[in-house]
Amino acid sequence: MCSFGTQLKKTMLIFENTAELQKYLKSERHQQRSIGFVPTMGALHQGHLSLIEKAKENNDIVVCSIFVNPTQFNNTQDLAKYPRTISQDQELLAKQGCDVLFLPEKKTMYPNPTTTTFSFGNLENTMEGAHRAGHFNGVALIVSKLFHLVQPNQAYFGQKDLQQYLIIRQFSQDLFFNTEVICCPIVREKDGLAMSSRNLRLTPSERTIAPKIHEALQLAKQSLLAGKSVHNTKNTIQNFFTDLKVLDLEYFEIVKSITLEPIDYVDDSFQISLCIAAFLGEVRLIDNVFLYNHKGVF
Ligand code: PAF
Repeated sequence: MCSFGTQLKKTMLIFENTAELQKYLKSERHQQRSIGFVPTMGALHQGHLSLIEKAKENNDIVVCSIFVNPTQFNNTQDLAKYPRTISQDQELLAKQGCDVLFLPEKKTMYPNPTTTTFSFGNLENTMEGAHRAGHFNGVALIVSKLFHLVQPNQAYFGQKDLQQYLIIRQFSQDLFFNTEVICCPIVREKDGLAMSSRNLRLTPSERTIAPKIHEALQLAKQSLLAGKSVHNTKNTIQNFFTDLKVLDLEYFEIVKSITLEPIDYVDDSFQISLCIAAFLGEVRLIDNVFLYNHKGVF
């Protein structure tokens, strides 16, 4: 498709090849230019673009990658049906002022079957880790490959995937990646639905129901802030989904935001996150909110 340094709308370079990407970024580093990195699986939305924006604010050049990573899917249908909107993505990135797009093929990222495995201790024993076998191993594999290739000063991830952010931050420190891993706020539609590439898979009638996930999180937040117990709040949310019928709740967890330990009681000395995963038809959606609105959680 694109060869070395193909220019899109004058400014954005597109690389499919690792050697050419590395050569280009090496010369940028030699000129003391800092690199901000936004890894994605494409089907870009305003949430991704907010990460590009943040990366631009803090770095000399911004690299975005688009790669639908097969090793992080525990469900073959989910992988097959993952939205792919590559031409539109390229337009959006160029418009947003992204400098470099890395667009590898599967054989580039996985030239050989990979046997490397990761372990993330308690961080992976709950929520996504507990419900999607091997998911975080696949995420860590691809993100560490990408970090090696791009060697970013900073890498940006969305709070919607809170557990992913915490795991990436942990292994980046463990493996001495010289990359600051940054978490950016969730971007929501007007009706509260957290932006997600998977929203493209919702039917029009499912799309009208999807904001109920955020409504449930707000209900839980109000319940805890009004002094109701964790147990009581969990029952309220369970009943909310049972009454709704159309959304199949996979989990609702109330956890410490940094360790993801489930909590038994509320205490404002630590930040607390309320996290949900639910199926709407075939589409699995996740969302979370912080209990307290103060900044600087991480
Ligand atoms: O959050 C995502 O889109 C993916 O999990 C990531 C971080 C790009 C790795 O494939």
